[in-house]
Amino acid sequence: MKTTKKSKPSKNAPKSAKPWGGRFTEATNQLVDEYTASIPYDWRLYPYDIAGSVAHAEMLGKTGILTKKETVLIIRGLESIRKEIASGDFAFRIELEDIHMNIESRLIENIGPLGGKLHTARSRNDQVALDLRLYLRDEIAEIHWLLRQLQAVLVGLAEKHTGTVMPGYTHLQRAQPVLFGHHLLAYYEMFDRDRARLEDCFGRVNVLPLGAGALAGTVHPIDRTFVARKLGFDAVAENSIDAVSDRDFAIEFAAACAQIMMHLSRFSEELVLWSSAEFGFISLSDAYATGSSIMPQKKNPDVAELTRGKTGRVYGSLLSLLTVMKGLPLAYNRDMQEDKEPVFDAADTVNRALTVFAGMLQRITVHVGAMRRAADDGFITATDLADYLVRKGMPFREAHEVVGRAVLLASGAGRGLHDVTLDEYRKLTPLIGHDVYDALSLEASVGRRTSYGGTAPTNLKKRLQALKKQIAKELSAR
Ligand code: ARG
Repeated sequence: MKTTKKSKPSKNAPKSAKPWGGRFTEATNQLVDEYTASIPYDWRLYPYDIAGSVAHAEMLGKTGILTKKETVLIIRGLESIRKEIASGDFAFRIELEDIHMNIESRLIENIGPLGGKLHTARSRNDQVALDLRLYLRDEIAEIHWLLRQLQAVLVGLAEKHTGTVMPGYTHLQRAQPVLFGHHLLAYYEMFDRDRARLEDCFGRVNVLPLGAGALAGTVHPIDRTFVARKLGFDAVAENSIDAVSDRDFAIEFAAACAQIMMHLSRFSEELVLWSSAEFGFISLSDAYATGSSIMPQKKNPDVAELTRGKTGRVYGSLLSLLTVMKGLPLAYNRDMQEDKEPVFDAADTVNRALTVFAGMLQRITVHVGAMRRAADDGFITATDLADYLVRKGMPFREAHEVVGRAVLLASGAGRGLHDVTLDEYRKLTPLIGHDVYDALSLEASVGRRTSYGGTAPTNLKKRLQALKKQIAKELSAR
């Protein structure tokens, strides 16, 4: 830890290190210092704390609450603290509780009592709400972008599989053939909704709480609109009490993260299944798998498993936040300091999960033959046989019954629907003709599903064209 050069204290300078030490006669118990401090984790808010302080100082200067000279000196002092922290030279002090008091105290150390003017018309209550909102703006933008990159990987992979047939499942039982590319684009849609949720959440994050003071506003002639403009906020919080008590925006963010993880977890589950010997649909690249310390033959899908597992952590963060807030009277309560770790952990976990997941997905090997063999089980096109009969005029419910009997007949003899002879079919219903065997093929099954959003290759190719255009446009705009 670096020691710091002290400037000369003024007559009224705080007698303890604590900016709030005035009314206290006893030093804080060491355990209390440790118990109440958030600096071990909230130090990472420093770029936001400083950006917020710079904007606040500029506003104090602009409104004449500080002189131009004082403003310049304070901002210069803040900038040098930013550099000091970034370089790793800053000595954080636990007895200064949090990032806000660590920075303020250092500012006073460096530029003298003038540093104490920065906190005019401000409280840590509106300050911490501001910092968290600034932090979340960046995190939301980053996660939004990572989702987009994962979507680009999905589109790239789906493009290679516009003709790859796999079994589609319900109840994890083979249901109807689908294109692998179509299956992948189901995840595209989920991640699209995740992005929309983040965008929506951003709107409520991007509201300026600063200027609420501790809870009641301030007597000083501040200009909140000026600060909002400086910091890129779209709006100014209307109610000072709400501004310091509200953590809805953090809960919404955690909820959006929880849903992203839920989607990644379902995808992970499929990758785990698909990479098993039982399915054999894909192989993971060695770079994205791990081995067993005892069983030399093993290659385990740990990235997918951990993503599934980490989903629980993120749900935990959401639950923590909801629970912390549920019993709090207005306005600020120290309980709210417990918001930081869950928010940071949710953001970090989602960030890493999306990054590693995209890398893993990009490098999977798809076993087209195994997918096709699994789909070609003799019965997966049973619905197509029923639809064939519907096209010949039979009501669907009757067709379902007839096909059910055909399934019974064939499976009893260890055959599939395409092995049932025309004579056998005709005994079930005279509506069946030679053309039935074409209707039973996998290609016919997927090819006919041209209803909007269906799995037909023509649909998939069209959708991919549109998505590629969108992605290319966004990439060029970035
Ligand atoms: N470290 C505190 C937090 O994270 C900052 C606000 C403290 N305000 C207070 N009045 N003690 O919530």
